[in-house]
Amino acid sequence: METNQYLTEFYNSYDEDSRLAPRHGSVEFLTTMRYIEKYIKPGDRVLEIGAGSGRYSHALARQGYAVDAVELVEHNIQVFKQNTQPQEHITVTQGNALDLSAFPDGSYDITLLLGPLYHLYDAGDKRQAIREALRVTKPGGVVFAAYVISDGCLLDEGFNRGNISVSQYVRDGLLDAKTFAARSEPKDLFELVRREDVDELMSVFDAVRLHYVASDGCALLLREAVDAMDDEAFELYLRYHFATCEREDLLGVTSHALDVFRKRG
Ligand SMILES: C[S@@+](CC[C@H](N)C(=O)[O-])C[C@H]1O[C@@H](n2cnc3c(N)ncnc32)[C@H](O)[C@@H]1O
Repeated sequence: METNQYLTEFYNSYDEDSRLAPRHGSVEFLTTMRYIEKYIKPGDRVLEIGAGSGRYSHALARQGYAVDAVELVEHNIQVFKQNTQPQEHITVTQGNALDLSAFPDGSYDITLLLGPLYHLYDAGDKRQAIREALRVTKPGGVVFAAYVISDGCLLDEGFNRGNISVSQYVRDGLLDAKTFAARSEPKDLFELVRREDVDELMSVFDAVRLHYVASDGCALLLREAVDAMDDEAFELYLRYHFATCEREDLLGVTSHALDVFRKRG
């Protein structure tokens, strides 16, 4: 089966729109928005590559930014369109992160690549998606790239929730028996990486890293506790998370990471 068919089948039946809605899921969204808001300025143009149902695109369009979105899966585009409000300056087109030739060089102040790298399985493809994101970004513009991090997922989905069998993954070669580094292919749907993989990918680009963030930290691992928090407790948890999500000693224990880098001017 082609990579895109695995993805299409998955996202046709996955409620992507609800992924970030519960409290534990909102931590990634709130953290990513917080970092976008550090850099976005009035009048900026935004491109979201792999926009899904458009949570980020719509949030930014509702703040008055002009947003263009690209998404691979038709089902997600339909949901994206249903979620559009009349006042938004927003477009969505079907396209692939690996080939953004429909978009000219140096056009966007803020470029979001929050999802396609989860589903690209070799360094060449991942670098091609990052190269395209940088190409369409203006000199001095900022790119936000998200990854799924293996240790957070292994702890949460494996050891904690038992949704995946760690011992079976080791037997199948999806986890290295000594280092527990992950490997996957299109049928596995998600490509899990570690900080060292992100650093190696980025080593060929002439971009300036601004932040590397554990974007949801332990929120998925602690999901029952986080979802049970009242408003006051959750606000305190968020304050803790925001205060610690760039700490070197905590960066690996997260389900998602956000790499924020500036295209040289
Ligand atoms: C986990 S979702 C994230 C959606 C949204 N960016 C967010 O963070 O809420 C990943 C999205 O990337 C899309 N995607 C995956 N590979 C892609 C590619 N090569 N080009 C464009 N979109 C892609 C998927 O269809 C899916 O909608």
